[in-house]
Amino acid sequence: MRMRKKKHLEERLAQGAQNNIFVYRSDNLRFTDAEEDYIDLDGYFGRKAPFHMEVGCGKGGFMLKLAALHPEINYIAVEYCANVIVTAAEAALKAGLKNVLFVNADAGYLERLIPQKSIDLIYLNFSCPFPKNKYAAHRLTHSHFLEIYRSLMTDGAAIYQKTDNRPFFDFSITQFEQCGFALSNVTYDLANSGYEGNIMTEYEQRFTSMGVPICRLEAR
Ligand SMILES: C[S@@+](CC[C@H](N)C(=O)[O-])C[C@H]1O[C@@H](n2cnc3c(N)ncnc32)[C@H](O)[C@@H]1O
Repeated sequence: MRMRKKKHLEERLAQGAQNNIFVYRSDNLRFTDAEEDYIDLDGYFGRKAPFHMEVGCGKGGFMLKLAALHPEINYIAVEYCANVIVTAAEAALKAGLKNVLFVNADAGYLERLIPQKSIDLIYLNFSCPFPKNKYAAHRLTHSHFLEIYRSLMTDGAAIYQKTDNRPFFDFSITQFEQCGFALSNVTYDLANSGYEGNIMTEYEQRFTSMGVPICRLEAR
C-alpha cells in the first residue's frame, strides 16, 4: 500500500533544513560513482563528540529517546522515506534536541555523505526484511551495505541489530560472518536475555505487544 504524501511536505522539509536538523538530499540520484559530498558533521553539531547513527530510523521514536538520554553523543538518523523522516525531524525540533541530525538518503549513498572512519556505533532497528530472495540485496544487512558501514566505522566501532524476523536475523548473521564481523551478545529472545537498558522502537513495541520474541546482536 502506498503512503499518501504528507501535506506541505516540501515546506516542512525545508523548515527542518533551516533549523539545522535536517539534511534533505533531493539530488541523491544524480550522484555518479566517483562523486562524494560529505556532510560537514562537525559544522552541523558545532562541537566534537562521538557519532552514533541509526539507519532506517522511521518516525524516529528510538532516536528521540536515545538522543535525550545521551546529550554527549552526536546522533545521525538516516531514512530514505521523506514522508516518514519529516515526522521524526519535526518531533526532534519540538523536543528541542540539539544532538540529532536527520539525513533523508538511501543507505546505499552513505559512503558519499559521511566521512570514512567517523562513526562509533550503528543501530539497525527492525530493518525491512524483504522476505523474497530476489530482493535480498535491499536488506540493510546485505554484504553490500555491511561493506559501506565498515568504511564509515572507526576502529573498534560496533553495529547493534534488532529484529522480530527470525529468517532475516539468520540471514544477517551469515552476512556479518561472511564479511568478517565478530558477533557477540546474540539472542533470539531479548526480553529474557538479561540485556538491560533496552530502548524500544515503534516496531518493537508493536511486535512485543503481539508476543513476538525480539532477536538482537552486536557485530564488530
Ligand atoms: C520496518 S521500518 C522500522 C523503523 C524503525 N527503525 C523502528 O524500529 O520502528 C524500516 C525503515 O527503514 C527504512 N529503510 C529501508 N531501506 C532503507 C534504505 N536503503 N535506506 C534508508 N532507509 C531505509 C524504511 O523506509 C523504514 O522506515
